[in-house]
Amino acid sequence: MSLPGLPEPPPSGATALPPGTFDGQVVLVTGGGTGLGRAIAVEFGRLGARLVVASRSDDHLDQGRAALSELTAEVETVSCDIRDPDQVAAAFDAAEQRFGLPDVLINNAAANFPVPAEDMSPNAWRTVVDITLNGTFYCSRELARRHIAAGLPASIVNIGASYAWTGGPGFAHSAAAKAGVKNMVETLAVEWGPYGIQVNGLVPGLFPHEDMTADIQQNLSRTSDKDTCQPALRVGRLRELGWAATFLASPYARFISGHTLVVDGANWQRRLLTNSPVVPVREQMGRGPFDLG
Ligand code: HXC
Ligand code: NAP
Repeated sequence: MSLPGLPEPPPSGATALPPGTFDGQVVLVTGGGTGLGRAIAVEFGRLGARLVVASRSDDHLDQGRAALSELTAEVETVSCDIRDPDQVAAAFDAAEQRFGLPDVLINNAAANFPVPAEDMSPNAWRTVVDITLNGTFYCSRELARRHIAAGLPASIVNIGASYAWTGGPGFAHSAAAKAGVKNMVETLAVEWGPYGIQVNGLVPGLFPHEDMTADIQQNLSRTSDKDTCQPALRVGRLRELGWAATFLASPYARFISGHTLVVDGANWQRRLLTNSPVVPVREQMGRGPFDLG
């Protein structure tokens, strides 16, 4: 029997919020030149926002600029490694100089590669935690300090992952970092609510895209038909994540704070009545026996 799965969303270019919802607003997206970050930036751009895209690679920044310019959205790109608090401060300075203080911060930049935990070097662990967890904190702190000083409201959306709740075999570093990011949403929402700063999380399910790193693509390629592995019988469409991000940061969601919204067609709740046999991570990844030397 062929089942329909969850319906397709409206076409690309549609918006869920009224036109001009973000007119005059400045939205800073870390990692906004590629993949999901770019898709999120585009949806803000469609609704009138001026965008600041911050990341390390000039190529990625150019890609973000090109996608946003196509929509005639105003865009500034800033070279920034979010692991360095001074670079984060400089990125906010550049944003302020061009457009004014960002009203919305999308903490989207992250790092990840699959590796069995016993093979992971201390520097590999440190690198992923430094970008995903520490970088998210540095950017959030920078935005909050400037807004608290100016007495202006703001909205922060942290992009997470569902293995923050479940753990992520093969991704111990990223799963732990994302759990920290989710926890930070809950703490910062309470600390900064009195200043008018909302803090929420947004968790994408499986949203394949052409910018995915070779490591992640290779990992995903082990599953031949990704649609049939989802309860929705399809993967996410990039605009669906963008619409969720724009809603969370919009005037229509002002009383939502400290919440993490999962956009994954219920994939993370999926369980079988009887689980299939356990396959150790290194076997799943086609690695030979562990070698201490
Ligand atoms: C094991 C690895 C590795 C790999 C790097 N390392 N890649 N170890 N397997 N595939 C180790 C290195 O050997 C080194 O440790 C340490 O990590 C740092 O590596 P560098 O290359 O020096 O780091 P850097 O240049 O800072 O680059 C960071 C990076 C890189 C994380 C390694 O991949 C990157 O820039 N990624 C950004 C984009 C990204 O990761 N996107 C994915 C987000 S997707 P040693 O010990 O040798 O010094 C996502 C999806 C979740 O999160 C869900 C998916 C389904
Ligand atoms: P991606 O295309 O690889 O994007 C990651 C972005 O982060 C890149 O634009 C990269 O830009 C930037 N970045 C990485 N390290 C940085 C640093 N140190 N400083 C500044 N920017 C940095 O991955 P994606 O799939 O779009 O992922 C976006 C977000 O969604 C991440 O938080 C990820 O964990 C989450 N997510 C994705 C999926 C999915 O299915 N795609 C699923 C669950 C969660 P530069 O290289 O230019 O720095």
